[in-house]
Amino acid sequence: NKFSAAKAAGTRTVDEITGSRRLRRMRKAGWSRRLVQENRLTVDDLIWPIFVVEGTNVRQPIEAMPGVFRLSVDLAAEEAERAARLGIPAIATFPNVERSLRDQTGSAILDPDNLINRATRAIKAAAPDIGVITDAALDPFTSHGHDGIVRDGVIVNDETVGQVTAAAVLQAAAGADIIAPSDMMDGRIGAIRDALDANGFQDVAIMSYATKFHSAFYGPYREAIGTAGLLQGDKKTYYLDHANSDEAVREAEQDLAEGADMIMVKPGLPYLDIIRRLKDEFAMPTFAYQVSGEYAMIEAAAANGWIDGERAMLESLLAFKRAGCDGILTYFAPRVAELLKG
Ligand code: PBG
Repeated sequence: NKFSAAKAAGTRTVDEITGSRRLRRMRKAGWSRRLVQENRLTVDDLIWPIFVVEGTNVRQPIEAMPGVFRLSVDLAAEEAERAARLGIPAIATFPNVERSLRDQTGSAILDPDNLINRATRAIKAAAPDIGVITDAALDPFTSHGHDGIVRDGVIVNDETVGQVTAAAVLQAAAGADIIAPSDMMDGRIGAIRDALDANGFQDVAIMSYATKFHSAFYGPYREAIGTAGLLQGDKKTYYLDHANSDEAVREAEQDLAEGADMIMVKPGLPYLDIIRRLKDEFAMPTFAYQVSGEYAMIEAAAANGWIDGERAMLESLLAFKRAGCDGILTYFAPRVAELLKG
């Protein structure tokens, strides 16, 4: 007594059920799928985050980010040239600062010749047409790994803003095109805008890490910049609670009111809802940071043969476009640029 599909079927035909609408019609061939494709990923969407370290001709692997390296300034400049040749519009730099230079207040961020400012000058000299984005954040420079100055166990907001603002001016003076403060202190965007303008850097833009969530996905980055073993406690008093969405809107609204030219959502893939919400709400240039942990997940699964890494990479990046992003900070940038070229 075998189960009969014909007997189990209802009385209506498929055309009666769908009203003769056949959504598969346009998916039938490559040419028709191309014709109706709504979003596309191009090299113009890519921002490449790179890690810089002291020395010359240094290329250190990062264990939790296979295929990503810490580069000395000379090699960072070479990679920037390669990125420019590939058509990548901008590069974002993150320093791994020598342990001996890290202190309680992150004072080395105020050295005009610190690693990050030297990297900016070298990149600008080697590849004048690529945009340079610098993170005016203290965490690579502090002995405790926080993005703020700590007093009696508290991250003090206003003093941190002063420090970050001074750092932003020095980064602009070194040649940074975009200042991207990632510390989530209140009032930093307005303070940085004022200071940039007062120092003749009206044309330097601000990309606010407007909605930076407290996240487990930053793990590999902390290995990369050497804060993994340093961080005391967590960053919950300044990063956004990842349970919140309305609060993300308020953060973005505030940063835009203070003068941010662009806003960023970070991490990326688990926060596509936030990207869509901010794009719909503000219609401003909106970016996502596909962070280190997201990169590591794709790479790890691919290395195990559990997913097709290349397809997962492209699918994840296109998802950002679909969610409303104008661009994506991604460690995959040069690999994607090569692929899109070929
Ligand atoms: C902090 C900062 C972080 C990242 C960039 N700048 C997060 C953190 O360490 O708290 C993360 C980037 C990534 O995970 O790829 N200023």
